[in-house]
Amino acid sequence: MFKNLIFRQLFDAASSTYTYLLGDPQSRQAVVIDTVFEQHFRDRALVEELGLELIAAVDTHCHADHVTGAWLMQQSTGCRIGISKRYGDAMQGSDLRLDHGDRVAFGKPYLEVRATPGHTDGCVTYVTDDHRMAFTGDCLLIRGAGRCDFQQGNASRMYHSITEQIFSLPDDCLVFPGHDYSGRTMSSVAEERAHNPRIGGQGDERDFVGFMENLNLPHPKQIAVAVPANQRSGKPDDDKTPRPADWGPVRQSYAGLLEIDPEWVAQHIGEVHVLDVRQREELDERLGRIAGAQFIPLGELKNRLAEIPKDKPVIPVCHAGMRSGQATVILRQAGFPRVANLRGGMLLWQQIGLPVVNSTGLAG
Ligand SMILES: [Fe+2]
Repeated sequence: MFKNLIFRQLFDAASSTYTYLLGDPQSRQAVVIDTVFEQHFRDRALVEELGLELIAAVDTHCHADHVTGAWLMQQSTGCRIGISKRYGDAMQGSDLRLDHGDRVAFGKPYLEVRATPGHTDGCVTYVTDDHRMAFTGDCLLIRGAGRCDFQQGNASRMYHSITEQIFSLPDDCLVFPGHDYSGRTMSSVAEERAHNPRIGGQGDERDFVGFMENLNLPHPKQIAVAVPANQRSGKPDDDKTPRPADWGPVRQSYAGLLEIDPEWVAQHIGEVHVLDVRQREELDERLGRIAGAQFIPLGELKNRLAEIPKDKPVIPVCHAGMRSGQATVILRQAGFPRVANLRGGMLLWQQIGLPVVNSTGLAG
């Protein structure tokens, strides 16, 4: 199904939001739909690990339940920020103002923009060029539809958006919503047309509007914070870009590990504490050791935490960076505030020609 497309669906549990990453396998260009502020490091790491060049971070609408990560994505990748032009001047920071019929290209593939107002005036649905996938935001949900009772919501308008812009897509077009609160990940146009209890089956506009106007939902908890922040495309009040660490260029991998590049560690070797967690017998092997490193095999680490100084950032290292990744987790859980795994371990360290000492402590 995804032969000609790189596709990932991501989830933010706090707001039950889905984020979608779509990439072109040929050009490696990509777009992300509805990235969440708090998940920025995760989403950013995935883009990087898949070797993608992010062209745009687009939102399906101005969200009321979470803050978009679009501005952070622009800061870290230089991508454009896309949202509907129908919000007018209320929306700041976006440099890709989209309207019905526009295309968002990433290499050869593109997303077609369909205006699907109703939840808000500026809601759009993004449809892949082959009409096989539709990203419906908070318009059509799986067996549901987005609420229409705040932010210029209008149930009648939503009825027309769904029936004319989404249900007109092919039966087998997959529906990927902006949220799901019950663990459902995707649906299809035919399925929703038949089984959606709000708008499927034989119901008409009056039935839909009657249903939607009597949902009696509580006011969204985040609305007072989320809407103003989203009107700045997710730019924080203080303009500060959150970083995984304040002491060095630490990155969070998609696996969730904090890691740092060997070149930086070599240049700042006096400012960090290198902790080698390999087995004793490995230390004399050809890869050598980093001068000044402390040795505690991973299996002994939990019982010897008191031996590790806390006055400097701790950089665990091992053969290839896996066991030291586990050491990084153990140290973080033990309350070490500044820890980052040495990316690639001694293998990468030696491969790029950084200095080592041998078993006698002499430069090797
Ligand atoms: Fe929403």
